[in-house]
Amino acid sequence: MKKIDNIRTNYNLDKLYVDDLKSHPMKQFDLWFDQIPKKGDFNAVALSTYSKPEGVRSRIVLLKNFTKNGFIFYTNYNSLKARQILYNNHVSLCFFWPDFQRQVRVYGLAEKISTRQSNLYFKQRPRKSQIAAWASSQSEQVVSREQLMYNYSVIEKKFLNKKIPRPEFWGGFNIKPFSIEFWQGGVNRMHDRFLYEKKNNKWMITRLNP
Ligand SMILES: Cc1cc2nc3c(=O)[nH]c(=O)nc-3n(C[C@H](O)[C@H](O)[C@H](O)COP(=O)(O)O)c2cc1C
Repeated sequence: MKKIDNIRTNYNLDKLYVDDLKSHPMKQFDLWFDQIPKKGDFNAVALSTYSKPEGVRSRIVLLKNFTKNGFIFYTNYNSLKARQILYNNHVSLCFFWPDFQRQVRVYGLAEKISTRQSNLYFKQRPRKSQIAAWASSQSEQVVSREQLMYNYSVIEKKFLNKKIPRPEFWGGFNIKPFSIEFWQGGVNRMHDRFLYEKKNNKWMITRLNP
């Protein structure tokens, strides 16, 4: 095992002041998101969900859109995460952008987006991704890679020279935030943290200890 407890990052890239914050957290998110270079998985985010008996599970999904009403990602509606959301739609998102020493944490309610919206997004996906959506029973056991590729080829043949419709079991979720926290790494671990919480239909901002 490698020794890693002596590895240190200095957090010193930026500061966050309450006067500079946007009054709506999605506007603040938009500002930060706009600053990230659009390369790699810049839109990757950890999504945590809870159900019994599985407990808390986290995984990365890709943020595909955001509006003033929340954050949208797409998945298989029969997957573990979707079944957990059905059990309890209180979820958490956590973005980390190391190049900026920034973290954004969201606590909110996940709801399926409209079939129309899911159809529109599915239509614009590459054909191979559309086939994969049909071919994968996400989170279920598969005996081998060969079986998986066989399932893919069956779908490929089924839709040969045809438009591929969105499977009913595949679509988007919107996460409507109750709270969003913005974290900017600070010198000597004195980080800046601001929490937006919705109270009486108004967004309130509190500075938190690091
Ligand atoms: C960079 C990256 C992006 C991913 N994007 C998605 C995504 O947008 N939707 C999705 O369902 N799974 C995505 N995954 C796969 C999930 O992390 C996860 O393995 C899968 O959704 C099954 O999770 P579950 O069994 O908890 O439902 C992504 C994984 C990585 C590493």
